Amino acid sequence: MSLEVTSLGYLVITAEDVAAWRTFAESVLGMQVGQSPDGSDDGSLYLRVDERSWRVAVQPGADGGLTAIGLEVSSREAFENLRKRLSNSGIEIEDEPRLAERRGVLDVFRTHDPSGHPVEFYYGGKSDREPFVSPRGARFVTGPQGLGHAVLFVDEYERVRDFYVGTLGFQVRDVLVMGEPCSFTSPNPRHHTVAFVSIPGVPPMLQHFMLEVDDLDTVGRALDRVQDNDVPLSLSLGRHTNDRMLSFYCESPSGVKVEYGWGGRLVGGDHNTGYYDAASVWGHRPPPGTSMMDGLGTD
Ligand SMILES: [Fe+2]
Repeated sequence: MSLEVTSLGYLVITAEDVAAWRTFAESVLGMQVGQSPDGSDDGSLYLRVDERSWRVAVQPGADGGLTAIGLEVSSREAFENLRKRLSNSGIEIEDEPRLAERRGVLDVFRTHDPSGHPVEFYYGGKSDREPFVSPRGARFVTGPQGLGHAVLFVDEYERVRDFYVGTLGFQVRDVLVMGEPCSFTSPNPRHHTVAFVSIPGVPPMLQHFMLEVDDLDTVGRALDRVQDNDVPLSLSLGRHTNDRMLSFYCESPSGVKVEYGWGGRLVGGDHNTGYYDAASVWGHRPPPGTSMMDGLGTD
């Protein structure tokens, strides 16, 4: 099956203190503040990491909220094909007036995954005429690998897997079993684009998203800034077993965790599904006095 979805294109999250998110994004992560795609001002923050006009938007709202997982589709033909396929398989399609203008894309429709996470499919994400300039000198790894990855807590593990793998055609790269199984999936060579796990008692939410930079020293400098700015460190520097990402996790002002890493491996189409019982070969330790599950946001 040819895939319509090519990458994670954008994320829209909500935060009570958008100004604090702006400071965090610029000063710690090295993201650049961009413009609202349609020129309107609803108090949202638009953040750039590459030539696109934005990749992460932070809207005023409840802390920890997820407004959209934006999945990029390759072309108008693929977009129409996907829309038809989803509709035929009984998935409800939502059209929001002016959503394409608000997102700065050629066309978009919305749906929800089986755990209720809002998913937007779009094609034609707008590029900015102004070059991306990180205020902290970071260069982010995007392009065909997209923005990065998102890890979701879900409450319908089998149905969510059917959606991302069965319906959208993402490849399962591996399954990490630490209590409950976590599936790591992707439509492109980035090891994982969407991963999901169901933990009893934990409601569906965006657990973390990952930004990858092209230089290990950029990760180290960001880690210094996390400490200098008293940003809570969720998991210390470490290297993951499955994607080999060398990263740390910190807590954003809205509570969602951000993984900041370097050196993620690329995976080809001939990959065999892997199986791990540990997330990291070293590091990724929670702060003293807390557990790994606290660090992952399940507290
Ligand atoms: Fe991650």
